Amino acid sequence: MARILITSAIPYINGIKHLGNLVGSQLPADLYARYQRGRGNEVMFLCATDEHGTPAELAAAKAGKPVAEYCADMYEIQADIAKRFGMSFDHFGRSSSEQNKKLTQHFAGKLDEAGLIREVTEKQIYSNADGRFLPDRYIEGTCPNCGYENARGDQCENCTKQLDPTDLIEPRSAISGSTDLEVRETKHLYLRQSAMKDQLDAWIDSKTDWPILTTSIAKKWLHDGDGLQDRGITRDLDWGVPVKKGDQDWPGMEGKVFYVWFDAPIEYIACAKEWADSTGKPDSEWERWWRTDKGADDVRYVQFMGKDNVPFHTLSFPATILGSGEPWKMVDHLKSFNYLNYDGGQFSTSQGRGVFMDQALEILPTDYWRWWLLSHAPESSDSEFTWENFQQSVNKDLADVLGNFVSRITKFCRSKFGEVVPEGGDFGERENALIDELTKRVRAYEAHMEAMDVRKSAQELRAIWVAGNEYLQAAAPWSTFKEDPKQAAAQVRLGLNLIRFYAVLSAPFIPYTSAKMLSAMNTLDTSWPDDVAAALNALPTGHDFTVPDVLFAKITDEQREEWQAKFAGKRG
Ligand code: MF3
Ligand code: ZN
Repeated sequence: MARILITSAIPYINGIKHLGNLVGSQLPADLYARYQRGRGNEVMFLCATDEHGTPAELAAAKAGKPVAEYCADMYEIQADIAKRFGMSFDHFGRSSSEQNKKLTQHFAGKLDEAGLIREVTEKQIYSNADGRFLPDRYIEGTCPNCGYENARGDQCENCTKQLDPTDLIEPRSAISGSTDLEVRETKHLYLRQSAMKDQLDAWIDSKTDWPILTTSIAKKWLHDGDGLQDRGITRDLDWGVPVKKGDQDWPGMEGKVFYVWFDAPIEYIACAKEWADSTGKPDSEWERWWRTDKGADDVRYVQFMGKDNVPFHTLSFPATILGSGEPWKMVDHLKSFNYLNYDGGQFSTSQGRGVFMDQALEILPTDYWRWWLLSHAPESSDSEFTWENFQQSVNKDLADVLGNFVSRITKFCRSKFGEVVPEGGDFGERENALIDELTKRVRAYEAHMEAMDVRKSAQELRAIWVAGNEYLQAAAPWSTFKEDPKQAAAQVRLGLNLIRFYAVLSAPFIPYTSAKMLSAMNTLDTSWPDDVAAALNALPTGHDFTVPDVLFAKITDEQREEWQAKFAGKRG
């Protein structure tokens, strides 16, 4: 039994995620976790909310709540929606946990002991009215280049010129609008990534099976321009992990916190400790996933994320753990995704554009979304959600192919033999040909799933459903029954067994429907079809079942138009 550690990029706390966020991280990670469990492997699947940083502070201010309270409330909301989407996390943690605070401070202490931290004095804009330093993008003013009045301190969104906050004409705080700003000196900690460049380079070189998309991003950051830069890991903010070296104070760093991108990936590890602590397990239980000196050397660690997250996962986080000099488990495979667009534009949280997770579940059950999103995952390039395409996939793949198959065979059996697997007859040439085809396809499906080729896996699964439909169409037990009821019984027996077989294979994609299929077939046997012929005999003659309700309702043109209109504007 293999042991597989899976993490999904942890979603920002500020607001409910849209389907584009979901398809690039949590959903494919869940697909893989469910598949690996289905194969009988031991899986630890972790995710959490990413709670620190200015966006969380500002969102809390907008909601009129103290930031800790805002995060606690949003955590509950995100955890609930993830659960309703079927995310099978072993633990859904919080980057603001005590465990993460301790571990983040621990890493900073180790990095300092290793001589990998340096202190830098910088000039930064301070807002007297807000009583705080302002990050570049929270300073607004008039663009010196084009005169646009709402240019941000990092960039003018009108003419796209990169800016420095001090370039802005009449700069003001984006938080309060105050113009009472001044430049102040402040001290920050930098992680000396440049000193670790060769070590990181060698580590990336050892990843010969990683996609070029991933390694080329890492290589670019390692070698372009002056090469890998040192990185500021602290901020002048109130909300975050207080800067300490282990449990010691850090002189000169009072009142500062670690940068959100420093503590967020550490939560991958802390999350496992949260899991152990919350279930009363000793530290050895989580350490066997994360410490190579405590059993994690035979763990395969896979990360899922959108492409914008790749630099942090190939360089910054590895720099943190390698730099600590401690035996932490490093990522073995990193699966990254392009972007999903929405109906001719981008999904956008700030503009409320697209379909958000809560809205999606208000109109249709999870499995409809899971199937569409996964079968259209933006792997080799960006992909696009359109309502026409969604309607078509649901109606064809789910309703016509899978749903119809289940309905036809169970209803036919009920009408001729009752709700019981009929006896008599033998499998002949047609059945054996089907078993051969399915065997090839199941092996291909396994290979795609192992390789995390999400679209190819979906295509293969669909082909497996289609093969059953074609068999049924050709065997036509409703005709056979007239001349040879025994042979019709064998055909129906195979068809009923295909339902269980499909339920097992499809569970990673459509877990709720899979559970309905298994319950209709009145079986708890979810064993993987290593031997397809044997799997198609799992339900013996005389086994009772019930005809299930319709598995997938078709999306009508009226519904499609209604939803298209409903989601055309900004989220209300
Ligand atoms: N919150 C980040 C995002 O949504 C992802 C953080 S992943 C981790 O882009 F590495 F920080 F954990
Ligand atoms: Zn401009």
